[in-house]
Order: sequence, then C-alpha cells, then structure tokens
Amino acid sequence: MQFDTPATTNPIDQLKVVGKPIHRIDGELKTTGRAMYAYEWRDPNTRYAYGYPVGSAIAKGQITAIDSAAAKKAPGVLAVVTTLDVGNLQKGKLNTAKLFGGSEIQHYHQAVAVVVAETFEQARAAAAMIKVDYAPQKGAFDLRAELATAQSPDPSTEPDSSSGDFQAAFSTAEVTLDAEYTTPDQSHAMMEPHASIAAWNGEEVTIWTSSQMIDWWRTDLATTLGVDKEKVHLMSPFIGGGFGGKLFLRADAVLAAFAAKTVGRPVKVALPRTMISNNTTHRPATIQRIRIGADRDGRITAIGHESWSGDLAGGGPETAVMQTRLLYAGENRMTAMKLATLDLPEGNAMRAPGEAPGLMALEIAVDEIAEKLGMDPIEFRIKNDTQVDPENPERPFSHRDLVGCLKLGAEKFGWDKRASAGSRREGKLMIGMGVAAAFRNNLVMPSGARVKLDKEGIVTVETDMTDIGTGSYTIVAQTTAEMMGVGIDKVAVQLGDSRFPVSAGSGGQFGANSATSGVYAACVKLREAVASKLGFNSKDVIFENEEVRSGNRAVGLAVAAGPDGLVGEDTMEWGDLTKTHQQSTFGGHFVEVGVDIATGETRIRRMLAVCAAGRILNPITARSQVIGAMTMGVGGALSEELAVDTRHGFFVNHDLAGYEVPVHADIPHQEVIFMDETDPYSSPMKAKGVGELGLCGVSAAIANAIYNATGVRVRHYPITLDKLIGELPDVA
Ligand code: MOS
Repeated sequence: MQFDTPATTNPIDQLKVVGKPIHRIDGELKTTGRAMYAYEWRDPNTRYAYGYPVGSAIAKGQITAIDSAAAKKAPGVLAVVTTLDVGNLQKGKLNTAKLFGGSEIQHYHQAVAVVVAETFEQARAAAAMIKVDYAPQKGAFDLRAELATAQSPDPSTEPDSSSGDFQAAFSTAEVTLDAEYTTPDQSHAMMEPHASIAAWNGEEVTIWTSSQMIDWWRTDLATTLGVDKEKVHLMSPFIGGGFGGKLFLRADAVLAAFAAKTVGRPVKVALPRTMISNNTTHRPATIQRIRIGADRDGRITAIGHESWSGDLAGGGPETAVMQTRLLYAGENRMTAMKLATLDLPEGNAMRAPGEAPGLMALEIAVDEIAEKLGMDPIEFRIKNDTQVDPENPERPFSHRDLVGCLKLGAEKFGWDKRASAGSRREGKLMIGMGVAAAFRNNLVMPSGARVKLDKEGIVTVETDMTDIGTGSYTIVAQTTAEMMGVGIDKVAVQLGDSRFPVSAGSGGQFGANSATSGVYAACVKLREAVASKLGFNSKDVIFENEEVRSGNRAVGLAVAAGPDGLVGEDTMEWGDLTKTHQQSTFGGHFVEVGVDIATGETRIRRMLAVCAAGRILNPITARSQVIGAMTMGVGGALSEELAVDTRHGFFVNHDLAGYEVPVHADIPHQEVIFMDETDPYSSPMKAKGVGELGLCGVSAAIANAIYNATGVRVRHYPITLDKLIGELPDVA
C-alpha cells in the first residue's frame, strides 16, 4: 500500500482497541522470566559452548602477533579464533568501524579474538592468557584540540543551511546572545548487553541476538561472513533496551558466528559490560555555538547554530543543529556542522540523535535570551512559534501544537509560582523551575507484515518488527484486533524473525507508527481476501464481533477462514507527504529542582512532559516511553559522561559504576500528558512517535531549573557539583 494522500476515516478510527490503555501482552512472559532474551535461548538437546571476547588494548595501530598457545591449553578451551585467523572481512554497509578481522586497529576494545570453552568461566579465564603485540600509532582523541582540522560533512546529507542575511541581522539586533555549550560523549547503557548465539547447519547460520533492525543486521552479517543473505536466519524476539546501540550489526554476532563454525557447535557470546562502551557505538560529544538576535518585543530576527563533533574516518557528525532549522521563526538564519576525525570508538545514533544534544544547548540559549529580554521563557517561545518551515514558508507543518503543550504544561505545573532566579529557598535547598520545548521529527519507514486468519478465528501477525521494551507486541495486536473486528485475545503476534516480512524496525521513533501502518496494510489485504472468498463487496463489509457482515449477511471469521485459513501480506510504502509537509512531534518539559546550597547537589523534585505526537496508540506504553526518556534526560543533565582518556584514546568509565545513569531513587514524581490530537498526514494510524520526543529538551529544562534555583548558568553538561559549587551564594 502506498500512503500518499492524507488519511480519511478508516477502521482504526473506531478506537475500540487502538488508543486504549492495554497492558503489554508480553508483560507476563517478562515478569515471570519466560521471555527468552538472546543469551538465554536454549534448546534442551544442544550443548552450547561459550565464547569470551578479547578487546584491543590500543586505540590505533597494527597487531603484529597474537600468542594464544597458553589459552588453547587452558582447561575446557575448545578453540581460539583471532582477528588474524579470519583475515580481512568485508565491513557491513552500516558499520563505520570494522567489527573483526585483519590486523588494523581502529579503536580501543575493537574485538581481536574470541576464546571458546565449555563454560563461560573457562572462556573468560583463558581470554586473559591471550597475548597481543601491537605497533601503535598516534591517534587524535580530543575534540577540542581538533577543531581547526574539522571539515564540513557530506553536503548531500548534512548541508549547511542559510536563509536571509544572518550576519547582518545578528550584528544589528537590539538584544543578542552568543554562547558556547558542550555535551559529552554518552553511552546507551541499555540493561541487556549485546549478545548472540550462533548455530550453523551446513552453510546456513541461525543467530539469536539482540537487534533493533533485523534486516539491517541480516544484510550486514551476510556481507561480513561472506555468505548469501538467504543463508542467514536472525531471531530477536525480546530485546532488553537498545536506544540506538543495537541499530547496527555488532561484534558479538560476528564472533559467535566464527566461533560456532570453528568448534562445530552452537556458541554464545555476550559483550562483557566493561567492553560495551569502547567496543560498540556512543553518542558523540559536541561543542555548539548558538547566536540569537531579537528585537525589544522579543521577536527573533537572527538565529544561528553551529556544531562541532568527531568520528572515525568515514563516519558522520552528530546532527545537533537540525532542530534549529525548524523550531522557531526568524527571517535570518544559519546552521553549520563541522566534523573532526577522531580515533575514539565509533560515534553513532543514540536516542534522538541530533535533537537530544542539540536541544540540550538550544533550549538553554532560549532561556538566556528570554531573560535578557526580561520575558517569561514560555511567552518568548510562543511569540516565536511558526506553523510553517521557517526556511520554506510555503511548506507547512502537518500539525504543530507546541504552543498548546507549553500553555497546558504551565497551567498544570504551576508555572505562575516560579520565582526570580536565586530567590526561593526551603531550608538548605534553593528551589527552581525550568522549562524547555521538545521537538523531534516524525520519520516514516517502509514496513511489511503478514496476517493469517485460521479456522479457529485466531489472527496471527508475522513481521520482523522488534520490541525493544517499547510495546510493539501490544500495539501491533491492537491494530490487528481493530482492523479485523476481534478482541485482542484472538490475536497472536510474532516479531523479530528474519523469515517474516521486513518491517521498519525500532529506531528514530518511527517504529510504532510505521510498523502498525504495515500491519494496517496487511490487514486491508486480509479483509479483501475474506470478503472476496465470501463473495462480499469489500467496500461495504464490516468486521465486528468476530464476524464479517455485508448487508444482511453475516459469517463468522473462523468459518470464513475455512480449514486452510486466509492470509494477507503487504508493505506500507510512503509517498511525498513528508516532503510537502514538515512532520514533527512537539512537547513541553517542566522540571522543578532543589539544589543544596552547601554542596551543590541537585535533586529533581517534579517533572512534567506534555506531548503532541498525533494519535496515541496506547497511553500506557506511550507513557512508559516518555517517562523512560525523561529519566534519560535526567542522566544527561546531571551525571552521564563518557570520560575520554585523551592520551590513550578510550572511555575510562566503561562500566555502570563509573558511567552514572539515574536510578530509581533519583527520579521523583513524573507526569505525562498527551494532547488529544491526530495527524492524518503521518499514516492511516494518524499517529507519530514519542520514544525520542520524551528525551528532547529534558536536560535543558533541568539546566534552566538549576539556573532559576541558583542564579548560576552552566552551559557544559553534565551539571555536576564542581560546576556549581564555586558559584553558589556564601552560606554562613
Ligand atoms: Mo534510535 S537512536 O534510531 O534507536
């Protein structure tokens, strides 16, 4: 099905199942430990072997020799497979850094060997006996030191933008702000580590893994192993979080495949937690310069945003300026990115790539210019709202209710009680409130599904869509139930298997809307098959109460299916509606903090997110996405930072003791409100994404709340005690 005209009324609009607060249909499997995650997959008749990876001890250079003699003789060891043994391998299309193979080292903890043994402990012990000799080379590890060498990225994908005359307008503006902001390297820090089990059957390999994007992995794994894609079978039914860290094929799958081939048995490989931050990808650090010029009435006359980031050669920039092209009005504008070559581990997508770090900077800058103007920061944002793409005024937003989010949020949060900066105290705590706009584009991806109706009246959905903890199983079931006129208990959902039609996968907050649209398209096909078998006119049939009706005829779905059942399969493809209309999601984040006047310790007291993201398919799973994202924003504001060793080129705090994500006790009352809206331009579902929107702007709202509490403006994340303590008022 091609979606190229705005949606009109369709069966989803009945909202008997879609839009209802239905608990996760996979919840019981998860809470009882029966959901099989990648490393846990087990066939009782198989004796699995265990692979333990070895990572490079240098960041850049060549391996000259690997001595694995001692490891091979260690108890229980079945084999050692080294990067020299397998030779140069072809890299997957979507990987910047190679994952395994050959003598060249591109980054620290690049996989150099895997030790396979009868038990995990034996493999780990033997891995410590591998000796690798290196010829190290000098690398570049410090973004700030490389600013002069940074280049413009690929203009076809990350072009500079400009409209009007930014320089002239900024230099003559009545009120101006020109400030630098920085965001650090961040780690996805998902709960489940990257893990794979590989089992060969002749020339075919089956991999149970933890992947957000089944088809991307399958394609790249086939390339790297040098086998036909059809010979690779990937399974990823349950995923313990990804946040972008599992979008692209990772080393555990490659190591497991080589290890299993070598020992002739299925092999399990998980990346140890201490290897994840340097072996896999991360969100790259940014240095951002923002300039805003406004007239005395608070109208933006000039807005400029530049960002510098780094990546391995062949990689791309963190696209932190993108939202600035769309979020606020203003005639004279520019954005630009510069990319430095760094020999740190590969930088790549992490939840809301671009917008998350971009808004961490932009939404402090907006708070700052509003203060210079003597305006309330919400009033300033409302004044500079735009209903059209500011660079192309003839191109409207499909639907944009940023103003509604900010107004409703202000009312619900008690924004009118906000005091002036540094003026509210409760005992030893300085109290402040902050706000930020949330903005994230709504992407759509082709998505396929197969829907089968059987003689019991059960509808089974098959799609390679993944559920990374987001609720895909549930919203796919809801969509199917709504389309076929059955209860959710009559729907079975099968996800994450490469034998199923290729879906959008989970990424870029496109999963929910795209994947359910693919299921919608497949259900339309199944409805047609049912109607045609019964000789009904498919235009006027009604699917309701497990029956299909036309005029005064009604047939039960189970009967209609017959002994052989019926199948519908289709892929949702997208026309030009994302080009003719700017599709984005919007929100307002509100935060109240308390900062200890003596220690500078910041505690979040209250958080509210108001989101405008089209139809909400399931308020429970959507809320869960947003509160999870808000929590990630707390980490980004207050604690998360991969500390770079700029001498040796690696992330020092490569575990969850040193890389501090918020824990339960750090998170106070959180509230989420969804605006009641639909966006007919987005899909037949009229839905958009929320999983990344929930993160966008949160950290800036916290930074702004800290400023409101203390009068101290911190522009460099994370806002740790040391950045506050010297600036806090004296206490006797
Ligand atoms: Mo997302 S960063 O595309 O998982």
